[in-house]
Amino acid sequence: PTVYILNGPNLNLLGQRQPEIYGSTTLADVEADCRALAQELGVEIVFFQSNHEGAIIDMIHEARQNAQAIIINPAALTHTSVAVLDALNTFDGPVIEVHISNVHKRESFRHHSYVSLRADAVMAGFGTHGYQLALRHAAKLVA
Ligand code: DQA
Repeated sequence: PTVYILNGPNLNLLGQRQPEIYGSTTLADVEADCRALAQELGVEIVFFQSNHEGAIIDMIHEARQNAQAIIINPAALTHTSVAVLDALNTFDGPVIEVHISNVHKRESFRHHSYVSLRADAVMAGFGTHGYQLALRHAAKLVA
């Protein structure tokens, strides 16, 4: 089975970007940790980041053909994008939404998620470890 792990805008700057909120781990570190765990769990992963909404949507469309589950940190698109929600609604498998920070503890505009209307599970506030927890869960769901 294959799990797509998709990351939205500004997550390429993870580790440098507001480290007091998001920590010092880089997205390359997250990817390496996910790859090691995927091997242990016996799943394939496609790990992707883009600052462009359309590129995220194109990867969700690709996942329709190639993946059994999607893990997505939509970043700011979480709070703005009906288009990402609509794309996820075309995907048949489990969708897990991940936020590094606890969005509920932050500004009120981060409390609403369009993606949560589709997500089967949501992680928030687990730091970058949330990706690994989500991957373990996804692997269990698609096994
Ligand atoms: C985030 C939370 C979002 O509100 C924010 O726009 C991000 C990252 C998180 O991982 O905590 O870019 O999704």
